[in-house]
Amino acid sequence: MQEQYANQFPLQGAEGAHIVILTGAGISAESGLKTFRDSDGLWEGYNVEDVATPEAWFINPGLVKDFYNQRRKAVLEAEPNAAHYALTKLEQKYKVTIITQNIDDLHERAGSTNVVHLHGIITRSQSSKRPSLTYPINGWELKMGEKCKLGSQLRPHVVWFGEAVPMIETAVDICKNADILILIGSSLAVYPASGLINYVPNDAPKYIIDPKIPPVSGVSHLIKIEEKATIGVPMLVAGLMNS
Ligand code: APR
Repeated sequence: MQEQYANQFPLQGAEGAHIVILTGAGISAESGLKTFRDSDGLWEGYNVEDVATPEAWFINPGLVKDFYNQRRKAVLEAEPNAAHYALTKLEQKYKVTIITQNIDDLHERAGSTNVVHLHGIITRSQSSKRPSLTYPINGWELKMGEKCKLGSQLRPHVVWFGEAVPMIETAVDICKNADILILIGSSLAVYPASGLINYVPNDAPKYIIDPKIPPVSGVSHLIKIEEKATIGVPMLVAGLMNS
């Protein structure tokens, strides 16, 4: 742990403590996957309304399908980075739960065993009729005409703007039981994920790793690590493993 951070806040890492890790697009940026709101982010090139809403799927399903096929292709070509791998080490000493907003599977491919996907996962499809009906996708392409067992067109298993977030209550309960929170690479611009930090107990240390720390207010015991994920995460993990 670099002195500048260690001095700001003492590490607290009793064996078996519950570490909750909240991740956003920033953790996968150095794996080559674009974030959403950085200057070259995905929402610079696309309108959210055109590709990531139920209305878009209704009006132009082909465009939406193609957008997510491209995302899936990029995810399948990407590899986990040093930040994803570092987080897996924490499982040797702590109870670890990762809550990710990401639709990639890089945490799982790195070896993390307890990952909650708040916004779905790109490697699966879901029924247009019953969201809980999901299937694995073979390869990168989801095609029109591929149907669920109820006969409706399969769509990407992704939570779109304007849709409910089925895993949010699970995530809230996990956060309420956190001893330590680590937030990595999220602008905290999207509700309800942005509110999860407020459910973490007041006295729990809360680390934020991001080269551009997002605004967080009313949260105590905050330590800001203003670094890219591949630098900040291995550094914090090393500190927590040795504390
Ligand atoms: N390491 C760590 N953080 C990084 C890095 C990096 N190398 N590069 C960028 N970041 C940070 C940015 O500074 C920013 O704070 O990652 C964050 C990315 O923010 P967003 O693009 O808004 O991504 P995210 O917060 O995950 O978006 C939330 O929005 O459109 C939706 O559903 C989508 O799940 C997504 C949600």
